[in-house]
Amino acid sequence: MVKKAKAQVTYAKMKGIVSYFTALMKDKKLGSSHSIYQQMDFLRPESGLSVDDGAAAICYSDLPRKEPQSQVSVADFDYLKVIGTGSFGKVFLAKYRENGTYYAVKVLQKDIILSRKEERQVMCEHRVLLKTLNHPFLVKLHFSFQTKDRLYLVLDYACGGELFYHLQREWVFGEPRARFYAAQVASALGYLHSLNIVYRDLKPENILLDSTGHVVLTDFGLCKEGVVGRSTTRTFCGTPQYLAPEVLQQKEYDRTVDWWGLGAVLHEMLYGLPPFYNADRLEMLKNIIYQPLVLKPGVSNAARDLLKRLLNRDRTKRLGAKRDLTELQSHSFFSSIQWDELLAKKIPPPFIPSLSGPGDLSNIDPRFTEIPVPQSLGACEEYGATFPGFTYIKENMTSLSAETRGH
Ligand code: ADE
Repeated sequence: MVKKAKAQVTYAKMKGIVSYFTALMKDKKLGSSHSIYQQMDFLRPESGLSVDDGAAAICYSDLPRKEPQSQVSVADFDYLKVIGTGSFGKVFLAKYRENGTYYAVKVLQKDIILSRKEERQVMCEHRVLLKTLNHPFLVKLHFSFQTKDRLYLVLDYACGGELFYHLQREWVFGEPRARFYAAQVASALGYLHSLNIVYRDLKPENILLDSTGHVVLTDFGLCKEGVVGRSTTRTFCGTPQYLAPEVLQQKEYDRTVDWWGLGAVLHEMLYGLPPFYNADRLEMLKNIIYQPLVLKPGVSNAARDLLKRLLNRDRTKRLGAKRDLTELQSHSFFSSIQWDELLAKKIPPPFIPSLSGPGDLSNIDPRFTEIPVPQSLGACEEYGATFPGFTYIKENMTSLSAETRGH
């Protein structure tokens, strides 16, 4: 157990602590030897937890009972390169043999998912992707299928790479560029909120660019469905440095965590580091919870005002708490943004990734592409629908975008 906790340890609280620890361990910079358990006292919730997080959980009963026989399978793709890694598996650049279209295929290991009892999280990602097929800045799911050992999500390939990759190379973005990305991310988040989905895991690595330089938000593994209006929830997993203080403290939280996340990402775009940064992870977590926000000069008053409002520790006073996206849209930092034009992708992106073709990997971090592709990936394994409802084929597959077609 973490500490001699005075308050009763409920299932939800224990789960929150384990999730927090798992999230920290996933962070490469924090080795498994770090004695975080001994130092986590300041994260202890102020009150006992009583929310039954099952209330907002995924309900399998509304998924189809009979697994549809997908006409698309593992063997229909050539798996070319690793383009991303995560806790459950890897993302590959793959070519659909039938028509030469490039996709990002997220491959998840069933045993890892089942051993971590995070099945719900994967099904959440799947369901969120199914639910959100029609937003210009959210990644699209084309197919999903499964073998005995793995789950496959076939997504649009965002060949412009991670925003984080570009930010790392350029250190900071100028305000017009940061504004453009922040506005596109904000519209995607507002759209998810309108479907009662909290994204929860906003960080630069999850913000990708397409070939034309528009944002593609990906990775819905940590989304929370069913968070309606101002209702709250308490379970969490995620990268700590972008998490809102109420999440770190396992207090109740709601969709306003995403506006904090946007503030953290905007801060990193403008200053080159996340807010409350400290090289010592634990110090940074303490800073997020207790330290006043210090914004150095060098960015406009409008940008600083927006950051202060988004990074407000009191979620009830945070920008977006009352009218969600609409409140952000009327902030002076975004006064030059024509939101309809933005959604219609009519505003020219501030940066166009240099690409030689649809399968170009030059914007993908070599850290990923250097990882060898396992031979077994495309092998026709025995079919095993141990995740009912997972198999999916996007309707109207004839409308493939020309941009992703390899010929
Ligand atoms: N990394 C994770 N998901 C991706 C996607 N859809 N396209 C490109 N890179 C990715």
